[in-house]
Amino acid sequence: MVDLLLGLQWGDEGKGKIVDVLTKEYDIIARFQGGPNAGHTLEFDGIKHVLHTIPSGIFHKNAINIVGNGVVIDPVIFKKELDNLGKFNIDFVSKLLISRKAHLILPTHRLLDAASEASKGKAKIGSTLKGIGPTYMDKTGRNGMRVGDLEFDDWKTKYRALADKHEAMIDFYDVEIEYNLAELEAEFCVGVEALKKLTFIDSEEYIFKAQAEGKKILAEGAQGSLLDIDFGTYPYVTSSNTTAAGACTGLGVAPNKIERVLGIFKAYTTRVGSGPFPTELFDEDGATMGRVGNEFGATTGRPRRCGWLDLVALKYAVQINGVTELMMMKADVLSGFKTIKVCTAYDYKGEKIQHLPYNIESEYVTPVYTEMKGWAKDLTKLTKSDELPPALNDYISFLEEQLQVPIKIVSVGPDRLQTIHR
Ligand code: IMP
Repeated sequence: MVDLLLGLQWGDEGKGKIVDVLTKEYDIIARFQGGPNAGHTLEFDGIKHVLHTIPSGIFHKNAINIVGNGVVIDPVIFKKELDNLGKFNIDFVSKLLISRKAHLILPTHRLLDAASEASKGKAKIGSTLKGIGPTYMDKTGRNGMRVGDLEFDDWKTKYRALADKHEAMIDFYDVEIEYNLAELEAEFCVGVEALKKLTFIDSEEYIFKAQAEGKKILAEGAQGSLLDIDFGTYPYVTSSNTTAAGACTGLGVAPNKIERVLGIFKAYTTRVGSGPFPTELFDEDGATMGRVGNEFGATTGRPRRCGWLDLVALKYAVQINGVTELMMMKADVLSGFKTIKVCTAYDYKGEKIQHLPYNIESEYVTPVYTEMKGWAKDLTKLTKSDELPPALNDYISFLEEQLQVPIKIVSVGPDRLQTIHR
């Protein structure tokens, strides 16, 4: 049995926290796409932990964590993550398994990302510059290097050929980028050695057997549905399938083995990087969301753009993923707003529509809002659903009615304990 946990907006919905809350129900936690562009934040015992590539089940004693074939791994960042977790005495060899088919991010992939973005000027994607796009390009271009290559003696020859090609491509972009490749390569080799100490597996086979043994598996998505390479706000997207289908290709899970699809969204909306965002606020309300919600990118530290909840976009994500239950994060951030707005339709080229059109740039789309009463109560100390203020209950009921999916968890703070089950 496999359950999916997916972000339904533009990422940063709080997946790390929810995986951490749910891990005790699962034997295996597996990442299936993305790479160190993700930043999954977990908070417990008063300490904040940020994971980039390692699945969020790593802090739980009994869970096995898998980095699936759909993920791209930067050995340099991976090693830093392992080092940062050093104080927890985790047995990585038995608890953290890596798919041989996962692709490797080379230092020159990162440089290519920087060169590509610099060449785009104002049209830049706002990439995290972790080399994600160029690595997936090499994967689909059938040039990439995979984790399994590291088990063969000729991996350095493969590496050299690819890195040389990348250097020629960097020259082609004709932009100023300073780098010392020898230093980056030395760091890469240290990272590769750390990676090689871990257990490499044929993860699709491992997961197949685990299912046959009745193990419970949670596939942990990174980023969000609106950043999906096919269904997101292209070209302002990431380079992988962040939606439910990505779990099938990124782990080798058959679609009919997926049971629950847990969709996670914030009570409002944020976006980091460039691209259209119909409900974005440029006023005091947006600034308040950013300040109270501490909306800064976990990977890049960039301030996140903030706005009201966009139900048109959320419905689209629920539909594409087949979401069976919802989890609403950061409800506490909306405490104190007299009025809460929810976008329930778009005015698109003069017509009122309720689906996501091809182009959602502000030039074509104006959000149509439904206004609801806010609540003043501080939610951060609440533990039971019957303690929620009536106005928040009305907000939740309205969303459930619109989306036709139950909201099972309401999160009221970053800590594991600030989680209300309904
Ligand atoms: P890339 O995947 O690093 O190339 O970034 C492409 C777009 O996805 C940019 O707008 C990034 O800000 C966004 N992005 C990538 N990873 C995350 C994430 O984990 N959370 C939120 N946005 C992300």
